[in-house]
Parts: sequence; C-alpha cells; structure tokens
Amino acid sequence: MTTLTSTATPPGPNARSFEEVPAFNIEKFITASRPLDLSGIQIEDAANYPLSESEVRVMRYMQDTEFYTVHYMKALMETHALADNEARAFMVCWGYEECFHGRALARIQEVCGHEPSQRSINEFARPRKMTEVVQDFGGRFLSFLSKDFLATHMTWGAINELTAIHAYSRLAELTANPIVDQVARRIVKDERRHFAFYYQQGKRRLQHSELARRMASLSLKALWEPVGGSMAPTEDRDFVGAYLFGDESGRARLAEVDATIAKLPGMDWFDLVSRHTNAGTRRCVDAGTPMHRPQRPTEA
Ligand SMILES: [Fe+2]
Ligand SMILES: [Fe+2]
Repeated sequence: MTTLTSTATPPGPNARSFEEVPAFNIEKFITASRPLDLSGIQIEDAANYPLSESEVRVMRYMQDTEFYTVHYMKALMETHALADNEARAFMVCWGYEECFHGRALARIQEVCGHEPSQRSINEFARPRKMTEVVQDFGGRFLSFLSKDFLATHMTWGAINELTAIHAYSRLAELTANPIVDQVARRIVKDERRHFAFYYQQGKRRLQHSELARRMASLSLKALWEPVGGSMAPTEDRDFVGAYLFGDESGRARLAEVDATIAKLPGMDWFDLVSRHTNAGTRRCVDAGTPMHRPQRPTEA
C-alpha cells in the first residue's frame, strides 16, 4: 500500500538528482513571450467561411479553458512555486499568453456572428462551492507539508499543455475555416513552449524524490479530469473530447499523450487521458448526441 508519510528514498543507480536534469531555459522563454502571433492573419476574414454548430461549441469551451488559466495560476502561486524563480517567472508569462489565446478564439466567434462564451467570467463571480474550498485547502496543506507536492502540479500542467497541443492541432485539421486553422496552429506553437516548461519541471521533481512520485500518482489517480472539467458541465467536456478525439486519428493522439507522460519517473502506469476522454466519447455516442464536423473544401 502506498503512503504519503515516507521521506525521499536514495535514488537508484540510474537516477539523476534534480540539479542534474537540464533546466528549462527560462531566459529564452521570457524573451520569446508575447501576445499570440497573428501576423499575416486577418481575423475578420473568418466571417467568409463556415463554422459548424459543433465547432462553435468546441471553441467556446476552449476559450473558457484559456481564460480559466488564472484559476490554475492562483493554485500554483499558493505553493512553493512562488519561491521558485524559474516557476514564478514562467507563470506570469504563461497567464499572459493564455489570455491572448482566449481572446483570439472569442474574436473569431464574434466575427462569425456568435456570442463568445461568458462562462469563465461568470465562474470567477460566483460563490465558491464547499468542495472547491476543501480542495483548495487540501492542495495548500499538502504543499505546506512537503515541497515535493509541487511535482504533482507540474505533472498535471504537462498533461494539460500536451493535451492542448493535440486539441488545437485537431481543431486545425478538422475545420473548414482557414482562419481557425491558422490561428489554432499559431496557438499550438505557444502550447509547445508551455509544455516544455511543465514537462521538464515535472521530470526533475519526480526524479528527485520517491515521495514526489507517490504524491503525484495518488493525486492524479484520485482527482485528475480532462482540462476544463472542473468548470464546465460533463456533457460539454465529453462533447469536446468526442469532437476532437472521437475517431481513430484522435484516439492515436490521446495514446501519444499518455505514452509521453508515462515516460516521466514513476508515471509508467499513466493512461488517464485516453481513459477519461474515450469514456466521455462513449457517453456522447450512447446519448445520441448530434455532432457535425465541417466539410473541408478538399473533401467536398
Ligand atoms: Fe492556451
Ligand atoms: Fe498553454
């Protein structure tokens, strides 16, 4: 049986210390940090091309997820990440960049005649639920008990950023709107930079300590759900997963996410992204939820 009370065990013969795993190049990241690169893209041109009803629903969810980054940032700022110069500098730029992703998605919806989602705005205005208060307290308490809990946050972030890379790649592949295609591919470039930070942090911190690995595995198994799931209704989360990843190509991407995360120390069991998303797709199919993928011009 696993326990959270053990201290770090001596590393095995092939293990490297936290310091020996190459650090993320935070200076390069900060220098490159800027609003989403939309050079050469006329967002207004999006109005000339179709957006399916299903695609709008997906984009609204993704927009909310981007704006909700502030919530994750707040949770991280209440951990030892605040005292970590690299993590603190990253978070400021990260929140800034994600905000522009949300704004670009909202603008496309607007020019195409759809009202952007207000959910993320409403989420911050509503009173906190008791379960959320308890979860926040639990996170702060574990962080207070051990610096090793930060490995959980970093691994969680790596999963979400890698999922975002594949989600936007799929949105670009599936859309019949060339502006959505171009904007989504530009967002992917930012998400890759975010993923690099979390993956490297997670790797270094998991490798450093047995306690970090145990905490991360226990927390992810007990609490992880696809990004945005804590904010949106389950039906929306399932729908987005089914739209983007419900076919063979999508499932292959999910498996790739799982395989990449499973390479992290102590995470060889990891299959949560496929497991949760595929279960959501099955619920959509069982409910007979209509789903319309746009017809790309080449397929017409
Ligand atoms: Fe983003
Ligand atoms: Fe990101």
